[in-house]
Amino acid sequence: MSARIRLALIAGGKSGERQVSLTGAKGVLAALDSSKYEVRQYDPATDLARLAADADQLDVAFILLHGLLGEDGTMQGTLDLLGIPYQGAGVLGSALAMDKNLAKKLYQDAGLKVAPWQMADRADIDDPAALAARVTMPVVIKPVRQGSSLGMSIAHNEEELAAGLAQAFQYDEEVMVEEFIRGREITCGVLGNRELTALPLVEIIPGEEYPFFDYQAKYEPGASREVCPAELDAETTKRAQEYGLVAHRALKLKGYSRTDMILSEDGDIYVIETNTIPGMTPTSLMPQAAKAHGLDFPRFIDRLIELAME
Ligand SMILES: Nc1ncnc2c1ncn2[C@@H]1O[C@H](COP(=O)(O)OP(=O)(O)O)[C@@H](O)[C@H]1O
Ligand SMILES: [Mg+2]
Repeated sequence: MSARIRLALIAGGKSGERQVSLTGAKGVLAALDSSKYEVRQYDPATDLARLAADADQLDVAFILLHGLLGEDGTMQGTLDLLGIPYQGAGVLGSALAMDKNLAKKLYQDAGLKVAPWQMADRADIDDPAALAARVTMPVVIKPVRQGSSLGMSIAHNEEELAAGLAQAFQYDEEVMVEEFIRGREITCGVLGNRELTALPLVEIIPGEEYPFFDYQAKYEPGASREVCPAELDAETTKRAQEYGLVAHRALKLKGYSRTDMILSEDGDIYVIETNTIPGMTPTSLMPQAAKAHGLDFPRFIDRLIELAME
């Protein structure tokens, strides 16, 4: 019998998505075949010294961190220094995808459509008129580097804009204001290293009580309906999958990614953002897409680890 793969499962951390990470880790741990993997768990909030000490006894890491200090390149850099391969994007790709402002510039350079946006200033909280004049309402207000819709809101007027900015600036030094695109929300998973595969699309339909795919709509069971494969005509499907591949390359990603898009009412596709460590419970969006592609949850994780060790 060949030796088991010694795998570091890295979850927890200090971001606003700590709980999402720990829940995901339970599912991943349950899905890892114990005859194939010897798993040790590390929480970067408390276990970095132990991770460094164990480095030469680890074959690969599975990073299950979302948001800052994990999905943004910092853990990737730490593992690079320690000589431990890991699934998904490297330092640069992770950092670029985390920064929604820089990512949009790269999407644009690559020919993809993005919602018009403006960067906000803290001073706009007290005097939002000038910013309001530069955008078309309604707008989505976003911390530039966050996930799980934390700190986000939608504004229809100057008051809501001011309140939304005040909230968003609690989450990040940089805040952006983006035109709200009305349409159908779809997401495209991409899998592979040199040869990339676009997975079947998923359509996300938040419940009527949710103004957008917010934190609750994302994690409350039954709050959103997900359709995979998305019911779209062949041309639109192909175009959205191509967008997913272009976004993945534009941000210099590796292994896998999941790009969120909106199919507008007039048929245009707008790229919203790309996740480099997408949600990983068995019912999360990317695992669903992998399943529709023929990879059930354990095999999807195996594939990510294979790609990491390639
Ligand atoms: N420009 C936009 N127009 C309409 N809805 C948007 C827009 N940007 C974001 N959203 C909604 O907000 C959700 C979260 O935004 P996103 O940029 O994907 O941030 P996160 O990293 O928190 O997932 C999206 O899934 C979508 O429902
Ligand atoms: Mg998103």
